Amino acid sequence: MIRGVIAGTGGYLPARSVSNDELAAEKNLDTTNDWIVERTGIRRRHFAAIGETASSMGMEACRAALAQAGASAADVDAVIVATATPDSAFPSTATRIQGGLGVTRGFAFDLSAACTGFIYALSVADAMIRTGHARGVLVVGTEIYSRILDWSDRGTCVLFGDGAGAVFLRAEEGTARGLLSTHLHSDGRFGDILQVDGGAGSTGCAGVVRMAGREVFKHAVTKLASAVDEALAANGLGHDDIAWLVPHQANIRIIEAMGRKLHMGLDRVVVTVDRHANTSAASIPLALAEATRDGRIKPGELVLMEAIGGGLTWGAALARF
Ligand code: UT7
Repeated sequence: MIRGVIAGTGGYLPARSVSNDELAAEKNLDTTNDWIVERTGIRRRHFAAIGETASSMGMEACRAALAQAGASAADVDAVIVATATPDSAFPSTATRIQGGLGVTRGFAFDLSAACTGFIYALSVADAMIRTGHARGVLVVGTEIYSRILDWSDRGTCVLFGDGAGAVFLRAEEGTARGLLSTHLHSDGRFGDILQVDGGAGSTGCAGVVRMAGREVFKHAVTKLASAVDEALAANGLGHDDIAWLVPHQANIRIIEAMGRKLHMGLDRVVVTVDRHANTSAASIPLALAEATRDGRIKPGELVLMEAIGGGLTWGAALARF
């Protein structure tokens, strides 16, 4: 049996980190640090500089992931990028990264599943590795939401940040490590509760994020709970078997609810939302990069990932590091 083992992780955050107070002052927002912290857990976020793009940030994350895996461009068969903020419609952000890394074979493509994008991309990469289509896959989440926010909408613009994360999946035979299973869902009936209100093929411009926050919150708590149940049941595992929960980082209240459901205290949950805010498809690989590099996630440990986002899309993935 072939499995995709997470051989390396990498993250990239733009240099500029902005506190809630700084953001409120800069954008003249009717908000307070207390409201943002209490309702979301967010204290700061990073914003990309002029000239930085989803591909430039993703490339940095990929370089770090390859270095940690002891791999090089020659080991990469495929680059799969989850992003809602591509540099352009085409060439894809993935082929830009492929070219920038000097990967001259295989294939690269973008995938659109909003904040669930990294779980979707992991699932596609896993299937390609299991079926022998690729042996070394860079799975990337990279986002510049600062370019698609309405700075007059305090209900959304305080929630998001920029950044990129990547993992390098390496095919290994006969191993207990690697991706155990992935579980994907979507329900397009709820597309309008979290959306970008424009696009190249509709309005001809990028559009901005619109969200019915309370509605999304309710879906998040129930749908994420059922996705993690599904992942545990598919592998015959209980919550005690999981060493770490690495959730999508949208709101600390949703993260805490998932921790309670899994009987996991925050000491077993990787939390970055306080410093990164919601980086959409980048949030899980950024959290993985942080927690593998600081020694929290150790080889052999089981890690459960879950996310929900526009679409609606949601899902979970289980991996042994
Ligand atoms: O990444 C994809 C998945 N996304 C999510 O999972 C996000 C899910 N939703 C949420 O995290 C929360 O719904 C929010 C953080 C977006 C909002 O928190 P909430 O507790 O659901 O607040 P609300 O939208 O119900 O708004 C409560 C009040 C409103 O005022 P009124 O109508 O009660 O007078 C808002 O106008 O808070 C007001 N409000 C703010 N006040 C100060 C909304 N945004 C702000 C703000 N500062 N930035």
